[in-house]
Amino acid sequence: MSTQSKTRNVTLTTLGNIKANGEKFACMTAYDACFASILSAAGVEVLLVGDSLGMVLQGHDSTLPVTMEDMIYHTQCVKRGNKGALLVSDLPFMSYASETQTLENAAALMRAGAHMVKLEGGAWIANTTRLLTERGIPVCAHMGLTPQSVNRIGGFHVQGRDTEQAQAIIEEATLLQEAGANILLLECVPRQLAKTITDALSIPVIGIGAGPDTTGQIMVLHDVLGISPISPKFVKNFLLGSNNGIPGAIENYVKEVKDGSFPADEHCFK
Ligand code: KIV
Repeated sequence: MSTQSKTRNVTLTTLGNIKANGEKFACMTAYDACFASILSAAGVEVLLVGDSLGMVLQGHDSTLPVTMEDMIYHTQCVKRGNKGALLVSDLPFMSYASETQTLENAAALMRAGAHMVKLEGGAWIANTTRLLTERGIPVCAHMGLTPQSVNRIGGFHVQGRDTEQAQAIIEEATLLQEAGANILLLECVPRQLAKTITDALSIPVIGIGAGPDTTGQIMVLHDVLGISPISPKFVKNFLLGSNNGIPGAIENYVKEVKDGSFPADEHCFK
């Protein structure tokens, strides 16, 4: 493993400058200190302690069973290994259902080491976003496919394919930016929709299954390493092309995100 970290204290200003310069940044999920160290040393700018841990670590079939205790524990682990990446932690299912809960739970994640919290939803999280950001807690709003709503959506499907739904996503993304969201994450939306939103917003947009035109890309660690039980269309196994094991795979991911070669056409929804 490289001992020299390529990532030095990434902040929201760093990400804003990357967007302003027309460049790209790399994000990845991390759940423990060891991988946090490898990923941040390889140049991943944003580490997400994702509630996907419920699926990839705990073996559940959704993210719904993940608790605040789980998120606090894994955030503390990632913080210990992190070498300068921006650390984002997910507020899990039903942890931001009321104002009191939201403030207590977001504060707990920040005390555990997060620099920012992520929550899923559209217009209905605008007030929550304002509540948090006005109190000094940066917010990443997660739209498109929102896995905590899998039972309402009826599965893990691409979102925004018809004009009406696409228009609603554009309007709600703008509303969330106005409410103070500092980053928008778009999951599983058509490439053109992600480009329209990225161009329209002043905040950085991170994509997963959203094509190459967003400011940043994010992948689930286990998908990048080819060890997830399922492999959706937007996933690429970077371990296959690595000549330096896991650190090499992560370095290749960072390089391909930054030079725009990942995601390629075959990873996009049209
Ligand atoms: O929980 C998670 O890992 C996520 C990513 C899929 C973006 O939200």
